[in-house]
Amino acid sequence: MFRPELNPYVEKLEEHKDIVFTSHDRESRDLLEFIQSPNPLIVDLGCGAGNFLRDFAQIRPESHFIGFELKFKRLVKGAIKFKKKALTNIRLIQSRAEEIESWIPENRISELHINFPDPWPKTRHQKHRLVSRRFLETVKRLLVPGGVFVFKTDHREYFEFAVDLINSVDFLEILHYSEDLHQSEFHQENLLTEFESLFKGKGYPVYYIKTKT
Ligand SMILES: C[S@@+](CC[C@H](N)C(=O)[O-])C[C@H]1O[C@@H](n2cnc3c(N)ncnc32)[C@H](O)[C@@H]1O
Repeated sequence: MFRPELNPYVEKLEEHKDIVFTSHDRESRDLLEFIQSPNPLIVDLGCGAGNFLRDFAQIRPESHFIGFELKFKRLVKGAIKFKKKALTNIRLIQSRAEEIESWIPENRISELHINFPDPWPKTRHQKHRLVSRRFLETVKRLLVPGGVFVFKTDHREYFEFAVDLINSVDFLEILHYSEDLHQSEFHQENLLTEFESLFKGKGYPVYYIKTKT
């Protein structure tokens, strides 16, 4: 059972209430204004400790960024990184990514990224995978017309599973595809996540697909 009193990062989160929001902050005026603003909104699901958001937010200062992440320690580390760079265009939400529709309205997101999600390799656990047919329907509702959905993973089987799902729906068009992103023409525009930095140099390929509605 999760016991917040045993996790020091639950308390540390209090120091970053300007950036990190939890289920207690659903009515937060700052978060609502941030989400409802006219700025393009870019979302990272399972954002870890925020390297991808930090680097992306610097090159797109006019966009708003939101990361969803479960782990308190990673959320605190992310908030500290953003403050070091004086970035004011990122917010983090401590919530399951599957609950995104309870935070963000339809037809709002310009780009939705999933980087190195937990692969749940065992067949009996595959139902826990974030990418599913149902999830793609959620993506459809949340993205603006022409909005982008990007998926990156080191897990070949999860990638093939996701690509099959993407091919089975008629509302996502494939823009980029690579079974070895770092050796591909797309690597120039790629931003490394924490997990990706670990793989880089070890020779394992990164699988990548970019789609649009
Ligand atoms: C393998 S890590 C990848 C982190 C980061 N995206 C990266 O590429 O470095 C997966 C992350 O997803 C988070 N996570 C797992 N299940 C989640 C869920 N249902 N909702 C939100 N985050 C989740 C984990 O806590 C972890 O930080």
